[in-house]
Amino acid sequence: MSTMSTYPPRPQLDRKSAKNLRIQIRKVISLFRTKSQRRLSSPKVWLGDEKLPTVVEITCSTPDIPTSQTALVVARKGEYELRSNHDMPKLESDDEVIIRTHAVGLNPIDWKSVSYNFCLPSFPHITGREMAGVVERVGTNVTHLQPGDPVWTSTYYRDPRAGCFQEYVTVPQHTVHPIPRGLSFEEASCLGVGALTAAMTLWKWLDVPVSDAAASEVRGEGEGEWIFIWGGSTVTGQFATQIAKLGGLRVITVCSGRTAELSRALGADHVVVRDGRAEADILAEVERVTAGGVTRMLDLVGPKTAAACVRLCMSESQKGRRVVFAPLAMIGKEEVLEWVEVVTVEMKRFVLNVECGEYGRRLNDLFEASELKLPELEVLRGGLSVVEQGLEMLKLGNMGGKKLVVAM
Ligand SMILES: NC(=O)c1ccc[n+]([C@@H]2O[C@H](COP(=O)([O-])OP(=O)(O)OC[C@H]3O[C@@H](n4cnc5c(N)ncnc54)[C@H](OP(=O)(O)O)[C@@H]3O)[C@@H](O)[C@H]2O)c1
Repeated sequence: MSTMSTYPPRPQLDRKSAKNLRIQIRKVISLFRTKSQRRLSSPKVWLGDEKLPTVVEITCSTPDIPTSQTALVVARKGEYELRSNHDMPKLESDDEVIIRTHAVGLNPIDWKSVSYNFCLPSFPHITGREMAGVVERVGTNVTHLQPGDPVWTSTYYRDPRAGCFQEYVTVPQHTVHPIPRGLSFEEASCLGVGALTAAMTLWKWLDVPVSDAAASEVRGEGEGEWIFIWGGSTVTGQFATQIAKLGGLRVITVCSGRTAELSRALGADHVVVRDGRAEADILAEVERVTAGGVTRMLDLVGPKTAAACVRLCMSESQKGRRVVFAPLAMIGKEEVLEWVEVVTVEMKRFVLNVECGEYGRRLNDLFEASELKLPELEVLRGGLSVVEQGLEMLKLGNMGGKKLVVAM
């Protein structure tokens, strides 16, 4: 009778070591798979010619993560410091996840909060609101993720453990989503602010239908309803335009001449080119095209353009028509019109309300179904040491529709 034998003989492991070994193997395979899948178009050949580490090359010890890491810290008012010995952000609850950063998205709020000293609860603090990376460790209640998974997240400024300008971030599990198929870390690193803000603003606050079936009500029999977006070429505006179209709305945007074509290509039905024009002239064109059909408005530029949006609602054709307005880049003390509802978009809801994780899942579904296009990326290489340089570029405000991300 033959006996089953293994060669080489299996090492005898206790239960804890065996569990650790399994975690390490999953992590290596998952990392390897992600990297290779991204490079090769055919999933059949993803093993390619890369050398898969053998089991003996993987240690059986607890998957240690370092006790310190590199972080770009706001050390004091208006001043960054790149620190190589900053504490690791630890798990403080069983529902949290530690992610190793592979790419971070840069946003206007990152430089504004440091230049104008707001959203900085104490010093030292770490800013940065969106990132993509690989799960490093999970709390015991986390079942939908495991070490090695490629993920993206969107974070809340109050918790320095979640600031994205560091090598590791620690965040609640419901804010962590798998990277949609076919997206790189750099591409996924811009989902957490522009894409998520557009999605939540439209779906949650502006009541834009998510599904095609519901969209037909908005489309209506005749001309349908319009959304007016001031700042159609901003990264947030690009996502908002596409999500509004998917929800059945007609879209009118304001852009400069150099980005007008981009806005049209993303689905805007009409683009008002703003170059050298007075506000009254721009509004007259919006009124002529939409003929009193605006039901939703989004401002992505600032208090002056937000005030102009409100003035549109005083025009002959819009007067009395109910409009919901989301001024995402601040609003001054405007005259309150009883037919205009100004909503306060609170993106912190995504982090504070577990059920808002659903918006991340819906967004992923749209990417998986190739329904959304990403903005053109400008990738800065050099990790945390080039973040400040990137924020200076953003400050100039002439990205022309491009999204700036930093690869670690
Ligand atoms: N509340 C929130 O949670 C939240 C979340 C996301 C964004 N925001 C805010 O929304 C705004 C947009 O953010 P973003 O990252 O999407 O912006 P962004 O991509 O950095 O926007 C840059 C673009 O703005 C356009 N622009 C500048 N002045 C304009 C004007 N007068 N009219 C029309 N477009 C103009 C320029 O394009 P053109 O050449 O086409 O003019 C420029 O390329 C920021 O103020 C940001 O702080 C808020």
